[in-house]
Amino acid sequence: MATDTNPRALALAAATARLNGRHWQLREGSLFEPVAGERFDLIVSNPPFVVGDGERRFSYRDSGIAGDGFCRALLAGIRAHLNPGGTAQLLANWIVRENSDWRERVGEWVAGTGCDAWVVQREIADPAEYVGLWLRDSGEADGSGTGVRELTERWLDYFDRERVRGIGMGVITLRRGDSDRGEVTLDELTGVGDDVTGPEAAAFLSRRAWTLGASDAHLLATRLSLSEHAVLEQRALAGHQGWTTVLRLLRREGGPGATVQLDEWGQALLGGCTGAVPLQLQIDLLAAAHGLDAARLAVAVLPSIRVAIARGLLHPVPD
Ligand SMILES: C[S@@+](CC[C@H](N)C(=O)[O-])C[C@H]1O[C@@H](n2cnc3c(N)ncnc32)[C@H](O)[C@@H]1O
Repeated sequence: MATDTNPRALALAAATARLNGRHWQLREGSLFEPVAGERFDLIVSNPPFVVGDGERRFSYRDSGIAGDGFCRALLAGIRAHLNPGGTAQLLANWIVRENSDWRERVGEWVAGTGCDAWVVQREIADPAEYVGLWLRDSGEADGSGTGVRELTERWLDYFDRERVRGIGMGVITLRRGDSDRGEVTLDELTGVGDDVTGPEAAAFLSRRAWTLGASDAHLLATRLSLSEHAVLEQRALAGHQGWTTVLRLLRREGGPGATVQLDEWGQALLGGCTGAVPLQLQIDLLAAAHGLDAARLAVAVLPSIRVAIARGLLHPVPD
């Protein structure tokens, strides 16, 4: 099923379907109007997400709704159209106002859906960069003279009035879980090769759901193995006693994902995760070797262990 407001887009989609031997239902209409009352296992959207004053110059780019209202409306409608366990993935842009963190606004939108969510900001552009990007994209920047200048000024004035300090661009993945209070993770990934593919997003959401469903006792009884792609980065400062490690970051080489910060016990513990023995035994051995209290050590390291599993840095080994 594919929908669009533009009949030409639907005609081209029909041609694409025929060329690929596919049979798609194509319906004309805005947002979810053409699918009222229907639910799906997967919804994907590359919406007209470009943030502007609401003037509609290009239908592929401008929704006609001022600011980032289109993406917000799209997100607000998604849950009602997802089957339980269903996934939605969309590209989106969001306004970042002066004196605010990018996570606030988009974080509120996705929390409002009640779905589990992974928001990845791939880039944040300042207003001038953003306007330049889309004027080049549309070819308007090639136009000569006052037209482009006026357009640019109008667009930048709008951002000024709205106190926009930047526009975040990224990918949002949602999954409709059992509860209507979803878990939301907001990441900033800017590295080359940090692509958020469908399978990667699905794997992240499943791993995170596993960690949320596992009790501490279950986790301690589980054997864990460190991913072969895990890399530990350390930062040390020199002093009278030689080098002192001040930061330990575990990350996955060649894949998207935030880093997990570890303390020295977390570092030692994860380094020993070969999948051979349950986590509890690893903790007992580490505690005994350093004269520590095993129960307190467990409480201290379990949160990072959960994050490392969700991030694909540690894998539970099936029995
Ligand atoms: C960035 S283009 C994406 C085109 C194509 N679906 C793709 O992914 O390559 C955005 C599309 O959204 C359509 N569109 C604009 N406003 C819409 C609305 N209110 N409801 C549904 N589609 C809309 C435009 O006609 C355009 O085809």
